[in-house]
Amino acid sequence: MTAKERVLKVARKVEGMLTDKEAFLLYLLAKNGPGRGCIVELGSYKGKSTVCLALGSKAAGREKVYAVDWHRGWKDAVKGGTLGEFSRNMRKSGVRDYVVPVVMKSEDAGRKWKRRIRLLWIDASHDYKDVRKDFLMWSRFLVDGGIVAFHDSFWEGPYRVVNDYVLKSGKYSKAGSVDYIAFAAKSRPGTAGKLRNKKLLLIRSLLKYPMRSEHLHPRLLNKAIKDVLLSDSP
Ligand SMILES: C[S@@+](CC[C@H](N)C(=O)[O-])C[C@H]1O[C@@H](n2cnc3c(N)ncnc32)[C@H](O)[C@@H]1O
Repeated sequence: MTAKERVLKVARKVEGMLTDKEAFLLYLLAKNGPGRGCIVELGSYKGKSTVCLALGSKAAGREKVYAVDWHRGWKDAVKGGTLGEFSRNMRKSGVRDYVVPVVMKSEDAGRKWKRRIRLLWIDASHDYKDVRKDFLMWSRFLVDGGIVAFHDSFWEGPYRVVNDYVLKSGKYSKAGSVDYIAFAAKSRPGTAGKLRNKKLLLIRSLLKYPMRSEHLHPRLLNKAIKDVLLSDSP
């Protein structure tokens, strides 16, 4: 069995919103991604992405995953919360020793945060103001060269933050996209990096209009952005 098959076998048993490619991308970023520091996940739900991140970091004997979620859903509280199922999934997936649950709102956790982060995965509230707050608050702890990745990057909130605060900022390079995830490394782009950011911005704007991302099939999206994928993408 390949590493990809092993990861997907475990990840598919956890309810969540990731495609297989996204799940394996998170595994690869956690296992092979640049920099030193912990991994922070904002928005765990039942732990699908948490498992992928933890399996990746554990496979390489690297840092733990801090999984920040208040476990009460979006605007309306999820009945009963998701912490119980999240914890069971960590145990069943064999990653309990690699995950530190942080059960609080991301902004409250961010105010107390002190550790360096090498991989920041943003998938909590998708409202623009919340995504922007999450990004600005937590990206301060991202080490040079560290990766920030957003899920649902074609939804209004993440879409605008990725475009305005990452791709147009002049502070991020090596940008890429796999299905609905957009990611970039915290390092000033050179000429090639700037071009790559512009290209991704253009492709993202073409894909956004007139189709709503929610209706866009991942395969179509992948085909259109194949030029900007990581060379070792899943
Ligand atoms: C889209 S789900 C995360 C999905 C998960 N990453 C996966 O792979 O299945 C969003 C999660 O963010 C959490 N959330 C929403 N707003 C939050 C906030 N302000 N602080 C902490 N967690 C929040 C919700 O409780 C929910 O579990």
